Amino acid sequence: MIDLTYYGHSTFLFVIDGKKVLFDPFITPNELAKKVDVKAIKPDYILVTHGHEDHVADVQAIAEKSGAMLVSNFEVVSWFQEKGIENVHPMNHGGSKTFDFGKVKYVNAIHSSTLPDGAGGGNPGGFVVKTKSGTFYYAGDTALNYDMKLIGEEFDIKFALMPIGDNFTMGIDDAIKAADFVGTNLIIGMHYDTFPYIEIDKEAAIDKAKKADKELKILKIGEKITL
Ligand code: NI
Ligand code: MN
Repeated sequence: MIDLTYYGHSTFLFVIDGKKVLFDPFITPNELAKKVDVKAIKPDYILVTHGHEDHVADVQAIAEKSGAMLVSNFEVVSWFQEKGIENVHPMNHGGSKTFDFGKVKYVNAIHSSTLPDGAGGGNPGGFVVKTKSGTFYYAGDTALNYDMKLIGEEFDIKFALMPIGDNFTMGIDDAIKAADFVGTNLIIGMHYDTFPYIEIDKEAAIDKAKKADKELKILKIGEKITL
């Protein structure tokens, strides 16, 4: 069984067959996520797609408190190691690794990845996670790209978490195409409304998805669903 809870922006806590996996934690600086109790989030793993502040802001504090294993690209992982985070697992594009919640593949994203202090954060990515309860794609921050078709060829994707805020990433139109490329009809929206640049009309986005025979799920911050 896969449970997920939305903590705003691109932050989701998955519970996959009992293991807690947190993606791209950006909670304390997010005005929209003020009600989230960050101290209560104790993951077993933290997966980070790239080095931008709006994806790594709470990594250090949560990793220190929980002892969670940080999984990201080599450069992002090395940066956190220098800050004292010891439980880490570096990856790079095209590589897969099996953890106790499933098999993770680090896949391409078209974006950038500079870390908050200006250090190089390697190249940005996304994750495909194959679990006993199904396979999902967490796109991270990315433009639509044809490499997504490779994900559709290799995996049976049950659902995909896609950015829909436009401006810095895909908007809804490209997210619908991306869902076609990876072969799913279920999109969970992320990376919208946090900042003025990425404010969107959520109802219009849901309608657009519906017209393309897709379901776009927009979760409330703090909402938990089972998939
Ligand atoms: Ni970014
Ligand atoms: Mn971002």
